[in-house]
Amino acid sequence: MGKKIKIGALISGGGTNLQAIIDSCAAGNIDATLVFTGSDNPEAKGLDRARRAGVETFVVDYGKIIRTLKQNSNALAVPDDFDLKEVQHRQTLFSASTDHEKITAFLRSRAIAERALLDYILPHDIDLLVLAGFMRTLTPYFIDHMNTVPGKWKIMNIHPALLPSFPGTDGYGDTFRHGCKVGGCTVHFIDYGEDTGPIIGQRAFEITDEDTLESIKKKGLALEWALYPECIQKFAENKI
Ligand code: GRF
Repeated sequence: MGKKIKIGALISGGGTNLQAIIDSCAAGNIDATLVFTGSDNPEAKGLDRARRAGVETFVVDYGKIIRTLKQNSNALAVPDDFDLKEVQHRQTLFSASTDHEKITAFLRSRAIAERALLDYILPHDIDLLVLAGFMRTLTPYFIDHMNTVPGKWKIMNIHPALLPSFPGTDGYGDTFRHGCKVGGCTVHFIDYGEDTGPIIGQRAFEITDEDTLESIKKKGLALEWALYPECIQKFAENKI
């Protein structure tokens, strides 16, 4: 086993991928120590998985922040180092035709939430942040605070489809409804776009006439649990 890297995780839900990562670290299949698990969702079941493994947890309640700002857009202060023009210029989440006010409100609210995430994350000085079912889009404000060395990606994600097909929140659903005969999952780095960053690994499965959305989710998740730890180990070994 090589030198251990420090990783942190962000989740929103059940955390079965998180569990696979925790188990792989414990089994020595990943040369990494998981030092925290954060969530945007106070109810995320995966937080219990982290606690059971003795991993520090935290929550930045995105829902609450967004609701507060909807009632009064000045109720919470944006971070001192937030430059709206700069972030707007870098982001590739919205097209040029999207309503300007909508983009501004989105980027301001996310910067407030992301600053809170960074306040937890940065003191840990991690080598890699893994998104394991984290259902919030990260903006350039957050990404630039993490990726401080040019060309060195520090945020990894697992996506439930064979990218670049079916980006977005419902990869298995979109694959199934499109009538695909093959589905799969992708591990990639996070860049400024929606599921557009460099691909690290992929696994595919066959979809037969007997399959349902439920059965393809099951097939996909089983592959995710193997693929994600493999990709993290590749990162730990500096082989990406
Ligand atoms: C997984 O399918 C992952 O690809 C997607 O969200 C789901 C999370 O599942 N991003 P879990 O919380 O790891 O069980």
